[in-house]
Amino acid sequence: MTIKRLSEWLQTSTNTVILTGAGMSTESGIPDFRSASGWWKNIDPRAVATTEALTENYSLFHEFYKMRLENLEKVAPHEGHQILADWEQRGIVSLVATQNVDGFHQLAGSRKVEELHGSIRSIRCNRCQQADSMEHFLSKASCSHCGGKLRPNVVLFGESLPQISWHTSMEAIKKAELVLVIGTSLEVYPVNQLPMMTSGKTVYINLDISQHAIPFDLKIEGKIKEVLQQLQV
Ligand code: OAD
Repeated sequence: MTIKRLSEWLQTSTNTVILTGAGMSTESGIPDFRSASGWWKNIDPRAVATTEALTENYSLFHEFYKMRLENLEKVAPHEGHQILADWEQRGIVSLVATQNVDGFHQLAGSRKVEELHGSIRSIRCNRCQQADSMEHFLSKASCSHCGGKLRPNVVLFGESLPQISWHTSMEAIKKAELVLVIGTSLEVYPVNQLPMMTSGKTVYINLDISQHAIPFDLKIEGKIKEVLQQLQV
């Protein structure tokens, strides 16, 4: 019944925006952060995903991102990512705003993507901000220009979000008729504010829909790939 209702909403909406989180990529083989098998169950985010970790414990910081980059080599976007890309091509989706740094929406063919937490696929120097190569980062080399520490272009705790992505996502969500919030615990500020900024309909798709009290017009409990496959648009 909820699937049927969402299918109808998708068919009639003239402006649908998607907001995704790590649950979008678990069916590709990338762990999320807060589930039982998520990264933050075994690793303290303060030790690896903060500006302090980068400056004060670079070895652990580097090990964590190297491990994530090596895992990325073995995995690929799944049909759910492709369905969202297909919806964009057919004019059903106007934007995918994502907290994911894996680049899977783009790899699956989505063009209008805002990466709110940056991308793990490109590298820069933390000191002089110059772009550097993935090879240099993986081999734990220092910046070729200034000798600073290399890092992926992800947003660490303690850093602000990329301003253009944030504003583009916020404006798109404000104007949307329908917002689908897919595979995120909505625990992280400020992205967790976005679903409340729209006057359009809101839908939450997650394995566990009982997690928090943010009001949604519709909640669908299930695996993202299966839910997206069932929708008739
Ligand atoms: P979380 O790990 O907090 O939440 C992922 C959500 O997806 C959970 O609510 C799971 O129940 C759900 N989920 C997992 N697999 C699913 C599946 N196959 N189908 C449906 N639901 C599924 O990840 P995010 O909300 O993305 O930021 O986390 C937000 C931010 O916290 C991340 O971008 C990262 C992290 O710290 C930074 O590192 C800055």
